Amino acid sequence: MKRAAAVILAAGKGTRMKSQTPKVLAKILFRPMIQYVVDACKNAGIEEICVVTGYCGDEVKKALNGQEGITFACQTAQLGTGDAVRAALPFLETHQDDAIAVLCGDAPLIDAAVLSDSLAAHQSAQNAVTLLTATVDDPASYGRILRQNGALSGIVEAKDCTEEQLAITEINTGAYWFEGRVLPGLLQKLSNQNAQQEYYLTDTIALAAQAGLRVDAFQTADSDLVLGVNSRKDQLTVSRILNERTINRLLDEGVEFLSTDGVLIAPDAKIGTDTVIYPGTILKEGVVIGNGCTIGPNTTLCRTTVGDGVTLHAVYANDAVVEHDATIGPWSQLRPNTTIGHHVHIGDFVEIKNSSIGAGTSVSHLTYVGDSDVGKNVNFGCGVAVANYDGVRKYRCVIGDGAFIGCNTNLVAPVRVGDNGYTAAGSTITDDVPDEAMGIARARQINKANFSTKKLAGRKKKVEE
Ligand code: UD1
Ligand code: CA
Repeated sequence: MKRAAAVILAAGKGTRMKSQTPKVLAKILFRPMIQYVVDACKNAGIEEICVVTGYCGDEVKKALNGQEGITFACQTAQLGTGDAVRAALPFLETHQDDAIAVLCGDAPLIDAAVLSDSLAAHQSAQNAVTLLTATVDDPASYGRILRQNGALSGIVEAKDCTEEQLAITEINTGAYWFEGRVLPGLLQKLSNQNAQQEYYLTDTIALAAQAGLRVDAFQTADSDLVLGVNSRKDQLTVSRILNERTINRLLDEGVEFLSTDGVLIAPDAKIGTDTVIYPGTILKEGVVIGNGCTIGPNTTLCRTTVGDGVTLHAVYANDAVVEHDATIGPWSQLRPNTTIGHHVHIGDFVEIKNSSIGAGTSVSHLTYVGDSDVGKNVNFGCGVAVANYDGVRKYRCVIGDGAFIGCNTNLVAPVRVGDNGYTAAGSTITDDVPDEAMGIARARQINKANFSTKKLAGRKKKVEE
């Protein structure tokens, strides 16, 4: 098989989106839509990709920054899709012997399988150009496919269609395979004599057919694959399709959903069997969940790994690891760089940041743990706060195995509570507590006898006793 490369068109402003952001960066399930197109290429083994940017090109570059195999070309004025591919001519020059996929950055449902299958068809038929088409119920503003005696002969844009052509339901998906050696010549022949006065890439089909080159259509079975996002409505439609597809995959893999109301799951989510997902669960990118977990209701996870048998109830977690059999929530937050050990219990209104919590530890109520290394089987009373920040720098606390942190303790970092160490309730701990010791840091209680007897003698009571 020959090598394949891709050109992704991403220079359009996307006026119909009514947004300050370039269209190809509009998000579909938490990721810029062009990322889906890039990933489809990568997963199909296409390693070199040229992204044509124009409007807000720097933002697009930034979004794809550092990803291997991506180069950029700039289309200075948006003169049409054909002109956009022309901007990639220097890239094409280095790929004359390759098959070139031309794809739209605004069609995120394209996948690796359809790219591989169409490339195989393109190569086995020895086509010069293979156009991916789909048959749809409502061809709307898509380019219509023209055929002569069944053979592909051209594409006509909706705006240039006759009444008769508008009724055609086979449409241009906007994805093509070109032989690298024919594409530059075809681009050279484009003109802008059409309704939009643009250089249409679509005209390359008729030009190739007229030149006697072998052109053919690859009809995709799934017409959703090619949905282009041109408006906010399209963005929502595509997001819903992708979400439903992911949920269907997970159902097939043995995940239970009580309902899919308010459930949004990024396509890369991995979830084990017998895990139950409750309504209001949002799984952003990079989430891995084990078997037999209970997730939700109202839980949002991002770049978080969860072991088997974990319960997360109304939890918000970013960049965290939760080991098996932990229970967290309701209403708790795990902030970046947090590891929760196995069999840990985290209760309500607890925030953990940049800390590791050892196995079997309990942090049950109203507590903040930041920049701390907490051992195993530690018990936090209600309302503990780690004072990890002095207004300039942050410091770490260490809490040894088996320690007992009394209610309403402040741990002023850096401080260490030793193994099996105690802190008395209400203490503000500023010095280390040795192993097995108890730190008490609070004033002794004094009782002033008869304090209120006279002072409050005339006090009115709201209700009689
Ligand atoms: C295009 C096709 C149409 C097809 C549809 C599929 C043309 C002329 N029409 O129409 O046949 O059915 O896609 O979705 O090709 N772009 C640039 N530079 C430009 C213009 C566009 O980079 O000067 C990029 C856009 O960012 C977008 C892609 O090309 O990613 C498609 O452009 P768009 O204007 O959305 O074309 P459609 O009208 O959808
Ligand atoms: Ca489009």
